[in-house]
Amino acid sequence: MSWWRSGVVGAARKKLDESNPSRKYQKFGLIIGATGIVGNSLAEILPLHDTPGGPWKVYGVARRPRPQWNADYPMEYIQCDITDPEETQSKLSKLQDLTHIFYVTWANCTTEAENCEINGKMFTNVLNAVIPNAPNLQHICLQTGRKHYMGPFEEWGKGIGSHNAPFYEDLPRLNDQPNFYYTLEDILFKEVAKKEGLTWSVHRPGLVLGFSPYSMMNILASLCVYAAICKHEGEPFKFPGTKEAWNSYNDVSDADLIAEHHIWAAVDPIAKNEAFNICNGDVFKWKHFWKILAEQFDVENGGLQEDESRKSLGEMMKDKGPVWDAIVQEKELLTTKLEEVGGWWFVDFVLSIEGTLDIMNKSKEHGFLGFRNSKSSLVSWIDKLKCSKIVP
Ligand SMILES: NC(=O)c1ccc[n+]([C@@H]2O[C@H](COP(=O)([O-])OP(=O)(O)OC[C@H]3O[C@@H](n4cnc5c(N)ncnc54)[C@H](OP(=O)(O)O)[C@@H]3O)[C@@H](O)[C@H]2O)c1
Repeated sequence: MSWWRSGVVGAARKKLDESNPSRKYQKFGLIIGATGIVGNSLAEILPLHDTPGGPWKVYGVARRPRPQWNADYPMEYIQCDITDPEETQSKLSKLQDLTHIFYVTWANCTTEAENCEINGKMFTNVLNAVIPNAPNLQHICLQTGRKHYMGPFEEWGKGIGSHNAPFYEDLPRLNDQPNFYYTLEDILFKEVAKKEGLTWSVHRPGLVLGFSPYSMMNILASLCVYAAICKHEGEPFKFPGTKEAWNSYNDVSDADLIAEHHIWAAVDPIAKNEAFNICNGDVFKWKHFWKILAEQFDVENGGLQEDESRKSLGEMMKDKGPVWDAIVQEKELLTTKLEEVGGWWFVDFVLSIEGTLDIMNKSKEHGFLGFRNSKSSLVSWIDKLKCSKIVP
């Protein structure tokens, strides 16, 4: 299998026939962060009729009520705040049929020391609730990311502590600084070792292209909202980042491809107890993507701002809440607040630095040949955001 749906942006999807009484589940998956940028893709793909290892029975966890755009997937939705150990224990210890955990969530604090503490607690709460109570638990997929090689956000731009790209999996940890990805890995290794036969995989995407309007880091949704505001106000769509970001090679990770990578590691014995990068396998430059974004929203491409008047996106968007409310009303979009759909801090981070690349050789050598055409992926996620009435 080379791998299953891969390469096919927006592949046709046949849902499992839930009403078929002879259906017998083979696997039971718990998605922690089921409305997030990768969680939403897992929630859509895991229950499909041809998903490897299936049929899958799927449980999904997040704090907010289940949103309309996620409600169609055959998934048992559990509202639970995993920072709360009692709530997590009471709601997740009941899931005794679980065979797999897909951990695709996180919390963002001001300092990395705080990130280590809160993210470590969240993960521990989930594992404490599930591992002793799910006798058939086989595998835990943990999603981290490229900060494994680059260090935490607070260190970016200081010119210290990052490995040189391209990144590959067996680069040593950056041990001179705290990093919540290392905290999560260490908890994973320790807890998995306590249960015989339980295996793990770590998935390290770069910048994710995907759908979720509930994601803390959805660069594409943020840029679509920014483009829609420029169009509404008759302003050019200016690149808020630096010349280095505009001109350098970069890569992205399609959220569906990441979900496929998780599922591959969950079912293929060769992928057990390994960490893998996961990106689309091609490269792009922001100056080319910017043109596509401008075309998709029929707005003038303002391009790179080389003079001192360049403003961060956070600064440009700080008073635009009422403008977004007006666009939502006029275009009859799903009701969202600007602060929900616009992650300006993240866009400003990403577009301030030279692009980075990683290498997919390890996944390929282990049999995962999945890829995406990043330009098609960009356009297809924009289509989905439009069709779902998140952006006009
Ligand atoms: N997004 C990217 O571009 C990107 C790139 C590389 C690496 N990563 C890494 O990937 C990992 C997963 O991040 P993501 O971006 O996929 O997540 P995300 O899109 O921000 O989604 C987070 C999900 O977790 C839920 N959640 C948040 N806090 C929760 C809590 N206390 N209890 C229960 N559910 C909670 C959210 O829903 P509610 O808010 O409703 O609870 C949402 O469903 C992180 O380690 C991140 O650093 C992300």
